[in-house]
Amino acid sequence: MSDALSRREFLGVTGAAVAAGRLEPSHGFPAPALLLRSASRPMAVGSLNGLRGINLAMELVSKGGDTLDAAVEGVKIQELDPADDSVGYGGLPNEEGVVQLDASCMHGPTRRAGAVGALENIKTPSAVARLVLKYTNHILLVGEGAKRFALSYGFEEEDLLTPASREKWLRWRANRGNADDWLDVPADEKMVERPTGTVNLNVVNAAGDISSVTTTSGLAWKIPGRVGDSPIVGAGQYTDNDVGAAGSTGRGESNIMVCGGFLTVEFMRRGMSPTDACLETLKRVIAMTPARLLRPDGPPAFGLTFYAVNKRGEAGAASIQPTKYAVYDGTEAVARDTAYLYPRKK
Ligand code: GLY
Repeated sequence: MSDALSRREFLGVTGAAVAAGRLEPSHGFPAPALLLRSASRPMAVGSLNGLRGINLAMELVSKGGDTLDAAVEGVKIQELDPADDSVGYGGLPNEEGVVQLDASCMHGPTRRAGAVGALENIKTPSAVARLVLKYTNHILLVGEGAKRFALSYGFEEEDLLTPASREKWLRWRANRGNADDWLDVPADEKMVERPTGTVNLNVVNAAGDISSVTTTSGLAWKIPGRVGDSPIVGAGQYTDNDVGAAGSTGRGESNIMVCGGFLTVEFMRRGMSPTDACLETLKRVIAMTPARLLRPDGPPAFGLTFYAVNKRGEAGAASIQPTKYAVYDGTEAVARDTAYLYPRKK
């Protein structure tokens, strides 16, 4: 905000214009009338590892809980679970064996966002991102500053590397090349591939209020300091309370190139179903993919999935190749097949 127009003045001018009917509350980009007129059905959708989180989130919204709180409490189950090596405690580390976590969230009703990147030693980055959203004038805090911010709110500093994630990292380090002093792990011992696990949840309540959250330990063995799409508002997740929410899991760099969370919501704004919007975003990803990331037979050599919900509570997901996602079926969270661009090779 420039010195010439303070934040207070800006809000005052904007508020007066809205009151006078000169600006739409949605800033001139309204949702399709279909979405705004219809009643909402409580819904949650996200990555397959969000099954337990969806059940908790839907329980919380059914008791009148806020959609952002519901989404964050949902993904915290995975962040705190040492068996999920894609997020939080037990997440796979960077190339130096340090776990660096990313997360972001958006709250539809207040149109606010918060995020943290490369956060170390704090188990629940989604909850720290929610504090950035609620209590600061900023959106993204990273590294040491993000950690100090978390500590100031009473979060505990902890070692996030579990024995299992350390073991996987040590094997990767031993086998990453033969021009170093690490002796290779024997060839018959199974190596861990290079996963980009993440958990994303998007929640809408009966009032049509929407929130989204994405949290991850990011690409395993990444260069220290690398942040992916998860903490990038508009890529890893995005919410517009007039339209819907979307988020992603998979190769973050490819998502950042298309601002996939935002783009998927924009496709829904134009009237697409959540599933079609996710597919359309994936087509944009393919169009932006350099040849070095394509397999010889055509499809990209990486995975990427988008999840979306609209204001009416319709949900869907799509991926580059078939996989599963988690969605509320009206009673409980269930796993469903994604729509996809390329069939898996037999
Ligand atoms: N989508 C997770 C990451 O790339 O870090």
